[in-house]
Amino acid sequence: MKIINLGNRHDASFYAACELFNQITRNPKSKLGLATGGTMVDVYANFVNLLKMNDVDVSNVETFNLDEYVGLSQTHPESYHHYMQKVLFEQYPYFTANNIHVPIGDAADLDDEAKRYEAMVRERGPVDIQILGIGENGHIGFNEPGTSKESETRVVDLTESTIRANSRYFDTEEEVPKQAVSMGLSTIMSAKRIILLAFGEKKKDAITKLASGIEDADVPATILYEHPNVEIYVDEAAAPDDMGRED
Ligand code: PGA
Repeated sequence: MKIINLGNRHDASFYAACELFNQITRNPKSKLGLATGGTMVDVYANFVNLLKMNDVDVSNVETFNLDEYVGLSQTHPESYHHYMQKVLFEQYPYFTANNIHVPIGDAADLDDEAKRYEAMVRERGPVDIQILGIGENGHIGFNEPGTSKESETRVVDLTESTIRANSRYFDTEEEVPKQAVSMGLSTIMSAKRIILLAFGEKKKDAITKLASGIEDADVPATILYEHPNVEIYVDEAAAPDDMGRED
């Protein structure tokens, strides 16, 4: 695992966008694992710019999102479907609709939906690059502390800390969904390459734990030690005090 301090959010977002861009220009049939949240907004803005400036053919690119809130329709302004449309698919409207995958949070049978999604990722994958944010509590996707390494896509309960953190996007904390359909840790680990981004002081504690080298089920992101191809891009505020230099 490599932690790279890119100084500021702007440069880190551009760097991540270039990695996505390079991936799909090298292989126009690339499979991208996508994430949502505040961290990713600038990554998509830069990615869209690169796609536009270079007229990239994305018709054969396939995308797989990590998660979706339970109970929100695809058009709900805070659903992750809606987020993806706003930040990427409406900005660069050349993706093929059937190649865009986001779990359906208001499916009639959510357990069936989770199974369908997991089987689809396994069958159409593996994902070439999975981008990830990290929760203040160390979650990746909505895999909260204590999640099993073997977990697959399923319905999960959000922790109080996640509900509080995500309430900034809703009018009131009561409106934040209490559950999500989320890829599991084992689903995420099936990607060939993983890029995790973290910005701001609030993420420093989680990144410091991630930099410690100690795998801990209470900090789900530490499972990434077991993956051979992981990079963490941080800004100065989220960078651990000890970046690992031995002197
Ligand atoms: P954020 O969320 O980018 O909105 O901080 C990240 C996460 O919870 O995974």
